[in-house]
Amino acid sequence: MYRLIRPLLFRMSPETAHHLVLRGLSLAPRFAALAAPKFTAPQALKQQLWNLSFPHPIGLAAGLDKDGIAVNGLLRCGFSFIEVGTVTPKPQPGNPSPRLFRLVEDEALVNRMGFNNQGADALGRNLLRRKLPGVIGVNIGKNKTTPNAQAVDDYVQLVDRLYRVADYMTVNVSSPNTPGLRDLQSEDWLIPLLQAVKEARDKQYQAHLDKVVPHWVPILVKLAPDLPDTTLRSLARRMIDIGIDGLIATNTTIGRDGLLSPLQRETGGLSGRPLRKRSTEVVSLLYQETAGRIPIIGSGGVFSAEDAYEKIRAGASLVQVYTGFIYKGPRLVKELVDGLDQLLKADGFRCIVDAVGADHR
Ligand SMILES: Cc1cc2nc3c(=O)[nH]c(=O)nc-3n(C[C@H](O)[C@H](O)[C@H](O)COP(=O)(O)O)c2cc1C
Repeated sequence: MYRLIRPLLFRMSPETAHHLVLRGLSLAPRFAALAAPKFTAPQALKQQLWNLSFPHPIGLAAGLDKDGIAVNGLLRCGFSFIEVGTVTPKPQPGNPSPRLFRLVEDEALVNRMGFNNQGADALGRNLLRRKLPGVIGVNIGKNKTTPNAQAVDDYVQLVDRLYRVADYMTVNVSSPNTPGLRDLQSEDWLIPLLQAVKEARDKQYQAHLDKVVPHWVPILVKLAPDLPDTTLRSLARRMIDIGIDGLIATNTTIGRDGLLSPLQRETGGLSGRPLRKRSTEVVSLLYQETAGRIPIIGSGGVFSAEDAYEKIRAGASLVQVYTGFIYKGPRLVKELVDGLDQLLKADGFRCIVDAVGADHR
């Protein structure tokens, strides 16, 4: 089905196609069933992480459904988890259009969206309408107008306002399209920021203790692939020291090596196939440095089960897709799940947990 729709969508501007599909999925979630083959995930792919159940390791990366308007439709595509956002405290329009580009020759995208979103209240309302089971991560960022010196307030406010609708939260300090945001990855900014976020989380947890099932929300940090390896290693150690619950590797890259498309000259973050190798390298490095003590979500250039498996063997417990989903459509989820099951069996692993980080043993 997507094979028929894709040529039509690819004739539209990327952002028009994006809004059309997202609106469609939001108004008629069942529409997803037309394009997404139904499947039951094999038992071997099941994992329990942070007290959350993942029937298989494939999720949707942040940025596709920034306002959480289509989570029901997206869950029907078969994802075991959806990361919504990046959300900022106040609504903001993002950068002027055009700001999203298809690099078809490279099976890649360049975007400089700039956290266009309807703000925390709208996301909170939208997530209350979620009907299907599935893990929802909320990816949080600061408003463009908030100086880095006050960034902590934005992140803490987002934890306070969205805690109850999130299964996990991701601190995004790695998008290249908010001026100065990536500077927050330096230890001097990042450590106090994460300590404040953790404190806010702990307060919220205490406040929700009266619930029948206490609601504890893990805090993850999403990192850029462009940081030097030494910085990534040192950050990974600090994350363990301060008790961060998980890492996402990686966000988009500002690098442009080896591309064919003339659109490579557009400013923004590059995603898709050209990002695969570096993001896997970062997963590997973080896994080694953390000795596998906290789960890592691999994100970057996953188009096939082999790509996903490579990230898992490198140390990822879960894998997210975005650009691969745009190019291949919803059938990608089942393709990845079926393929992963076969790859696990071929390597003699009983279950996915045994394959996580296998390259390092
Ligand atoms: C159009 C677009 C918008 C994105 N917006 C966000 C965002 O708001 N927050 C974020 O953390 N990552 C964002 N990302 C990055 C993705 O979540 C993902 O980490 C990255 O694209 C690498 O995965 P991929 O190669 O499968 O696309 C965005 C990516 C794209 C292509």
